Amino acid sequence: MKIITEPAELQRQCLAWRRQGLTIGLVPTMGYLHAGHAALMDRARPECDRLVVTLFVNPTQFGENEDLSTYPRNPEGDAATAESHGADLLFAPEPGTMYADNHATWVEAPRLGVHLCGATRPIHFRGVCTVVTKLFMLSQADVAVFGEKDWQQLAILRRMVRDLNIPVKLIGHPIVRESDGLALSSRNAYLSEEERAAAPAIRRGLVKLAEKARAGERDCAALKRFLAAEYAAELPMGEPDYIEIVHPDEIEPLDAIDGPALAAVAVRMGKARLIDNILIEV
Ligand code: PAJ
Repeated sequence: MKIITEPAELQRQCLAWRRQGLTIGLVPTMGYLHAGHAALMDRARPECDRLVVTLFVNPTQFGENEDLSTYPRNPEGDAATAESHGADLLFAPEPGTMYADNHATWVEAPRLGVHLCGATRPIHFRGVCTVVTKLFMLSQADVAVFGEKDWQQLAILRRMVRDLNIPVKLIGHPIVRESDGLALSSRNAYLSEEERAAAPAIRRGLVKLAEKARAGERDCAALKRFLAAEYAAELPMGEPDYIEIVHPDEIEPLDAIDGPALAAVAVRMGKARLIDNILIEV
């Protein structure tokens, strides 16, 4: 596996592969890789001739009071994970090489970023769309895999790719979980032992909400009240940032479940802010 740190060198290599008729797969990450990231690589591997994994803690998607400076890092471990999951190339740019000092161009889909994570992280998805567009241009990817854990991110990127005619196929991958149901996340590293033991209640509550919907409760306000009460009882150390039920593609809150619906939550626990979601199939 080759490691590249210069954006221009990544583009040169990927353009050369494309000229040879090779297809390129891309898995963008911010590192501190876990089995969720590895699953995306395994999903991408058979889809392409050359697999590019990127490792970049993108500063433009972090707000001022967020965890950019403390985001967990493990560059050597990440390189080993990427290599053992079939990456041909790891792109790990040095901070400062991805954005010029006078960077002035942004990509965003504001309408899809009003709710859920966009509500408390106003510049987040603009940073995500911009860096992912840059990674698409640098890697010339034919196919890219993203996790459904960040459902809103995936919905926004799908819209961006369609709206801007970007010639890449996006593949969504289901959420990879610990055996107790907690969604894998680099930010789980922030949890104390006690918080970690309590955190599976996030998923359990979502599963109960989906069961309640299937059993006939279609009123979203009632379902959200139910989940808030569940968390108050089962997860007293968690502070919900949002508990929402939205249209899975439009990311607009629903009043009633009469079609596709996604329940999504963000919960603050100590230093961590954990997200999870479940598709409601009724
Ligand atoms: P990061 O949080 O490192 O996640 C990288 C990719 O891994 C994303 O597509 C995310 O949805 C996926 N992922 C994380 N945990 C997962 C899990 N438990 N199951 C399945 N997939 C999981 O998301 C980002 O980085 C950044 O915003 C990025 C897209 C790289 C742009 O900077």
